[in-house]
Amino acid sequence: MPKTAAIILAAGRSTRMITDLPKVMHEVCGRPMLAWVIDACRAVGVDRMLVVVGYRKEAVIEAFPGQRDLTFIEQVEQKGTGDAVRVCRDRLNDHDTVLVLCGDGPLVRADTLAMLLDKHAQEHSAGTLATAVLKDPAGYGRIIRDSYGNLQGIVEESDCTDAQRQIREINPSYYCFGRQEIFDALSRVRPDNVKGEYYLTDAVKVLIESGRRVVAITAVEPDEVLSINSRQQLAEVSRVMETRIQDRLMSAGVTIVDPPNTWIDARAEIGRDTVIHPFTYIHGRVKIGRNCSVGPFAYLRDGTVLEDDVVIGVFTELKNTTLCSGARARHHSYLGDAKFGRNVNVGTGTITANFDGKDIHPTEVGDDVYIGSGSILVAPLHVKRGVQIAPGTVVENGKTEGTGT
Ligand code: UD1
Ligand code: CA
Repeated sequence: MPKTAAIILAAGRSTRMITDLPKVMHEVCGRPMLAWVIDACRAVGVDRMLVVVGYRKEAVIEAFPGQRDLTFIEQVEQKGTGDAVRVCRDRLNDHDTVLVLCGDGPLVRADTLAMLLDKHAQEHSAGTLATAVLKDPAGYGRIIRDSYGNLQGIVEESDCTDAQRQIREINPSYYCFGRQEIFDALSRVRPDNVKGEYYLTDAVKVLIESGRRVVAITAVEPDEVLSINSRQQLAEVSRVMETRIQDRLMSAGVTIVDPPNTWIDARAEIGRDTVIHPFTYIHGRVKIGRNCSVGPFAYLRDGTVLEDDVVIGVFTELKNTTLCSGARARHHSYLGDAKFGRNVNVGTGTITANFDGKDIHPTEVGDDVYIGSGSILVAPLHVKRGVQIAPGTVVENGKTEGTGT
């Protein structure tokens, strides 16, 4: 297999989002949308990715520290997708094949990229693209084919004739090119279109007109196409992604009682026979064991670990907190930066006071502790195993130590 690189376009400012954040930093199911595209590339063995950045580039670069397969390339002025690829010229000399993707298309699947790479190799083409047929093609570049079905080019919606606007086959911006071929073609692209930009899509036409082979395969499902240009599309894409995450979990034996009213981060791990009740929100790296019950109305944040047979009930928020096997926090609690031992009963309304206004402090509660309702655990705190805490106690360090077994 020849070595494959990827160019991911992420320099745009996104006027349509009305945002100060670079568009690709907006989160889809807990992660910046760009992270999803990077993952899909890694999953098909791409060993070098050039991420083209521009608008507020520091914010993008800072979000991906120490990832050695990423190189950030600056496009100083955003002159179009073709120009964005062109700035990567001379940065990929060891690679013959390059995937080109947009950072605002997080729904791209690794399977699609694998198919694209296979076809590209089989067909010996200069370019290969995956297309989709949509009921409503509005906003996307249209795929133009001749009467034999051969690809002729891509026309952006703003440059379409009325007849071209009727075409329902569109360009999701999933491309594979020969390295030499794409950079040669791009040097011949001119910004003669309504927006006055250098379009990557025009490079496809240049290749075809110079007699090179470019293949377009209609292989992308409509729900994989959606890219994000607006807040509405951000919500829509997030929903599609959430459905994928939940499908994966349900296929692995997790019950999700009410999928549309549940949000689970892609990084969450959940064991079999665990039940997630409605209106639960799981955000960040959260690990849940087997046979747990979570929610309704639970909020589990980054660093939450539930071992097996744990019960988390209504209006309970957990952050950076572990509940060991058999522990229960059934109602109205905030538990942060804490560890609760096996079979601990966390009474209704128990709060860890983990922040003193300046610093965050830890709480550790031993096995078999009973915490009565309405207790406040003032951190830093260590409660020994077997201790019984009466309802409504303010528990401070040194005042309860040693009373247990
Ligand atoms: C692009 C395609 C269109 C396709 C659609 C699919 C072109 C000309 N059009 O349109 O055919 O249907 O994607 O979603 O390619 N970017 C840069 N530098 C620039 C301009 C853009 O890095 O100078 C980046 C943006 O940050 C974005 C991506 O390229 O991540 C796509 O740009 P965008 O303006 O969203 O293109 P579309 O109009 O969606
Ligand atoms: Ca776009």
